[in-house]
Amino acid sequence: METSKLIAVYPGTFDPLTNGHVSLVKRGLDIFDEIILAVALQTPKVPLFSLSERVEMASRTFENFDRVLVEPFEGLLIDYVRSKGAKAILRGMRAVADFEYEFQMALMNRRLARNIQTVFLMTDYKWLYISSTLIKDVARLGGDIQGVVPDNVLKGLYRKFGRLE
Ligand code: PNS
Repeated sequence: METSKLIAVYPGTFDPLTNGHVSLVKRGLDIFDEIILAVALQTPKVPLFSLSERVEMASRTFENFDRVLVEPFEGLLIDYVRSKGAKAILRGMRAVADFEYEFQMALMNRRLARNIQTVFLMTDYKWLYISSTLIKDVARLGGDIQGVVPDNVLKGLYRKFGRLE
C-alpha cells in the first residue's frame, strides 16, 4: 500500500496499556501524521488480558485521537508494518535495561526490511519506572495503581483481580 502520510506502527503487547504508552503516542504524534498502535497476538509473554480486551482498552483510551488507530495484529510485525504502508516502527526506551532487547528487535526488523526504520523515543521521566508487568504485580497484590494507567484500564485491572471499583 503506497501512502503519502508518514505512518508509524507502535507495536506491543499492551498488557495492559499504561500512561507511559499513552505519553509515547502523544509525543510520537509530533513526528508522525498517524500512529497505528498495533496490539500483538503473538508475544513472548503469556498475557493477563485477552487480545480483544487489550485492543478494547487501548481503543477506548484513544477514542478521541483522530490520528491514532488501534488494531490487533498477528504474524510477523514487519509484514504488518509493510501492509499498512508505514515507514517506521515506534518504540519507547525507558532505561539501559531495555536496550539489549530493543536493539535485537530493531536489528532483526532491519534485516527483514531495510526500508523500515525503528524510531525510539525516550519515555517521559514521569513514567520511567513503570511497566505493565510491575503494574499487574502491584494490582494483583492489592496495591494502589491509580494514576499510572488510564481510568478504563484501572477498572479492567480491578475487574480482573476481583476488586471493587
Ligand atoms: O510490548 P512488548 O512485549 O515488548 O512487544 C514485543 C512485540 C510484540 C513488539 C514483539 O514481540 C513482536 O514484534 N511480535 C510480533 C512477532 C514478530 O515479528 N517477532 C519478531 C520481532 S523481531
